Amino acid sequence: MIGVGIDIVENERVRKALSPAFLRHVLSKEEIARSKEYTEKRMVEFVSGRFACKEAIIKALSGYDSPVMSELNIINNETGKPEIKYKNYRLLISISHERNYSCAMAILEGVENG
Ligand SMILES: CC(C)(COP(=O)(O)OP(=O)(O)OC[C@H]1O[C@@H](n2cnc3c(N)ncnc32)[C@H](O)[C@@H]1OP(=O)(O)O)[C@@H](O)C(=O)NCCC(=O)NCCS
Repeated sequence: MIGVGIDIVENERVRKALSPAFLRHVLSKEEIARSKEYTEKRMVEFVSGRFACKEAIIKALSGYDSPVMSELNIINNETGKPEIKYKNYRLLISISHERNYSCAMAILEGVENG
C-alpha cells in the first residue's frame, strides 16, 4: 500500500450545487448517463458519494498523479461494489451513505509496472 485518502461530503451542499456544469465537473460521461435514470434523492446521494470518492482517490494519488474528477469513472460491478480503473494505478475504493452525509475512502495499492 503506497497511498490512502478519505473524504466526507454533506449531501445538502451537493443538492444546492446540482447543475449541468457541476455534474460535468464531478462526473464522467458514463456516470452522467447513469445518473439520468435516478430520482432527485438518489441523484444527490450518487453525486455526493462520487464526489467524496474522487476526493479520496485524489488524496491517495497525491505525490503520484493529479486527475480531475471527470477523468475518474467509478463503476459498480455486478454485486454493487464500486471499482475504479485509472491509468496503471491499483486502487481500492469504498463508499457509504447516510441521510445527511456520504463518505468514501481510497487505497492506492501500487502501480502496475511501476
Ligand atoms: C452492499 C452493502 C454493504 C451496502 O451497505 P449499506 O449500509 O446498505 O449502504 P451504504 O450507504 O453504506 O453503501 C452503499 C455503497 O456501497 C457500495 N456497495 C454496494 N454493494 C457493494 C458490495 N457488494 N461490496 C462493496 N461495496 C458495495 C456502493 O458504492 C454503494 O454506493 P453507490 O451505489 O452510490 O456506489 C449492504 O447492502 C450489505 O451489507 N450487503 C451484504 C452483502 C449482500 O447481501 N449483497 C447483496 C448481493 S445480492
